[in-house]
Amino acid sequence: MVIAASLLAANFLKLQEECNMLNESQADWFHLDVMDGSFVPNISFGFPIIQQVRKTTKKICDVHLMIVKPEKYAEQFKNAGADILTVHIEACRHLHRNIQQIKALGMQAGVAVNPHTPVNLLKDILVDIDLVCLMSVNPGFGGQSFIPYSIEKIKQLRKMIDDAGLKVKIEVDGGVTLQNAKQIAEAGAHVLVAGNTIFSSKDPKATIQILKSI
Ligand code: DX5
Ligand code: ZN
Repeated sequence: MVIAASLLAANFLKLQEECNMLNESQADWFHLDVMDGSFVPNISFGFPIIQQVRKTTKKICDVHLMIVKPEKYAEQFKNAGADILTVHIEACRHLHRNIQQIKALGMQAGVAVNPHTPVNLLKDILVDIDLVCLMSVNPGFGGQSFIPYSIEKIKQLRKMIDDAGLKVKIEVDGGVTLQNAKQIAEAGAHVLVAGNTIFSSKDPKATIQILKSI
């Protein structure tokens, strides 16, 4: 399993310490949630935070854009240090063009799908992307409960990817806990995003280790 720690749940007054902790841990990726108050009903952080986080780590910076018009900012996210840039299918009128732009900038490209979006809408774009971010909560907030139907969607997507002979990663984002991680992995996910499960635990590094060993 790849563990992507969501900094949204970190203590921003202690960001350096939080990043150090993740660097010392078995977490594989830093998951950075960018929200614009338009695509989602919340605002998080942008370039200055990502630039600072980038300086602290050699791990993969996995940037999840919950914003409208992501094409306007793709180059700035590359310059801020994104290795993976994920855009929402619901926010992109010209998704194929957006994906080509991200790849031309030298980043891996991801597509995120909201809980209401059927995974079969991804069929024609799978060949062009590196990752699907399957939202298992409605995007905008950390600490929400996992939507059970997401398990069915992971299985459907797993089958689509395997049938097409592709290597697209399935990342599951939202409400991942120590209790449901195994079921999510068994359904076919490669990447687990975890925010509150990591940062609200008494021993975040130990929690990451448990997630990693699932
Ligand atoms: C939600 C974000 C998630 C969030 C997950 O909109 O995309 O990445 O940080 O938080 P938890 O793991 O606490 O549900
Ligand atoms: Zn996210």
